[in-house]
Amino acid sequence: MPEPAVPTASALPSGGPGAAGTPWSSGARRRTDGELEVAGVAVSELAAEHGTPAYVLDEADFRARARAYRSAFEAAFEQVGAGVDVYYAGKALLTVAVARWATQEGLRVDTASGGELAVALRAGVPGAAIGLHGNNKSDAEVLAALDAGVGRLIVDSLVEIERVADLAASRGVVAPVMVRVTTGVHAGGHEYISTAHEDQKFGLSVNPGPDGGTSPALAALEAVVARPELELLGIHSHIGSQILDPSGFEAAARVVLQLRADLATRTGVLVDEVDLGGGYGIAYLPGDEALEPGPVALSVAQVVAAVSHQLGTPLPRFSIEPGRAVVGPAGLTLYTVGTVKPVTVSSPDASGEAATLTRLYVSVDGGMSDNIRPALYGADYHAEIVGRASSAAKVLSRVVGKHCESGDIVVHQVMLPGDVRAGDLLAVAATGAYGRSMASNYNALTRPPVVAVADGASRVLVRRETVDDLLALDQG
Ligand code: LLP
Repeated sequence: MPEPAVPTASALPSGGPGAAGTPWSSGARRRTDGELEVAGVAVSELAAEHGTPAYVLDEADFRARARAYRSAFEAAFEQVGAGVDVYYAGKALLTVAVARWATQEGLRVDTASGGELAVALRAGVPGAAIGLHGNNKSDAEVLAALDAGVGRLIVDSLVEIERVADLAASRGVVAPVMVRVTTGVHAGGHEYISTAHEDQKFGLSVNPGPDGGTSPALAALEAVVARPELELLGIHSHIGSQILDPSGFEAAARVVLQLRADLATRTGVLVDEVDLGGGYGIAYLPGDEALEPGPVALSVAQVVAAVSHQLGTPLPRFSIEPGRAVVGPAGLTLYTVGTVKPVTVSSPDASGEAATLTRLYVSVDGGMSDNIRPALYGADYHAEIVGRASSAAKVLSRVVGKHCESGDIVVHQVMLPGDVRAGDLLAVAATGAYGRSMASNYNALTRPPVVAVADGASRVLVRRETVDDLLALDQG
């Protein structure tokens, strides 16, 4: 991973909660004494009650984003005369309460493993409102999904199609399936999270093989049609994550609708449903643009309508699976600062002349175990000292964790007040998605709690792990 260029102070954004393009949740604001509060709860209270590090989730913000996606897509597709379903992608963060919030806001829940399925079921999400993904589902996962009566299994390979059909037969049920296809359209901020490349493990390509014959996607759809134990609901495509340009969705919609028409020509089966997956991008840094649900819903609905019209096919029922865009900005991670250490490095300046630069290394009480994204993807985040006001001049800083690894970086570069010191509370914004869900116990650190805040009160959704929890797994 290349080191980010050393920035000048003026190049770094410094906006706090409430600024335009903010990465903070809508309930985050600075009080007059300079302390940050979320949904009316001061961060010092959160730290005192729940300890640090802690994932803090602004419930009203999550619900508002869920509603915004649902209502934007419903309105846009209503205009063109089609129905739409919004699935919350649980991989971003799934707890029992979070699954309930999504359901209460009219979203369905998309799961990617038997574990996520179990959480959704524990939350009381009706099976019919759950989808199960996965490129390598076990028989046990498929059976759990069939037994729960899930609304859709998204199949990912020819062998899986036969396996799901056999398992459905063993249960005496008909499995509702969608076929995951790769459209060749890839979008998103980073190659590792762009899942529509042809050279990757997901889905079946819409492009014919080297012999020019039937595409794997069409062959898979036909294989589903051929098995009476399977009901072919439709076609699924997910083109990537942290997408900021809606044209990727439009391009994927064209390819999927063409495939739907080709299948109808060849088999007489016109599938009802088309899903374009998730990937809606959010602001991570002050000033970052985010994809707004309203405009992207309108542009996708118009493309779906226009292309269906051109192809002479009726409009499909449409669905999407946003994860990050619903939960990402609703979450922040609250840490306590420990060691603070200036490190001076030599670095060429803009004209190539040798120059030195001092960067403050600010260590916090978590790190790559609670947020692997900076280390894994080079992801950028924004942090602020949130327990107090400071009038000290801001200095170039790097927030690091407490793991035994130099790549244990939480925020690569941020301007923090020069008087930052041990005991300060530090918050990293927009960590709601893929923070807790990708957390580990590296160095036997215990995973932080997920704390929800709403209407001036906090409650624990997932408690902090303890060393006893870790030792309970260790059979000695
Ligand atoms: N649907 C499917 C089939 C997916 O594979 C994904 C994400 C989503 C929906 C939700 O995408 P979202 O709206 O959250 O972008 N760990 C990476 C992201 C991996 C996303 C994988 N699939 C990260 O931290 O950026």
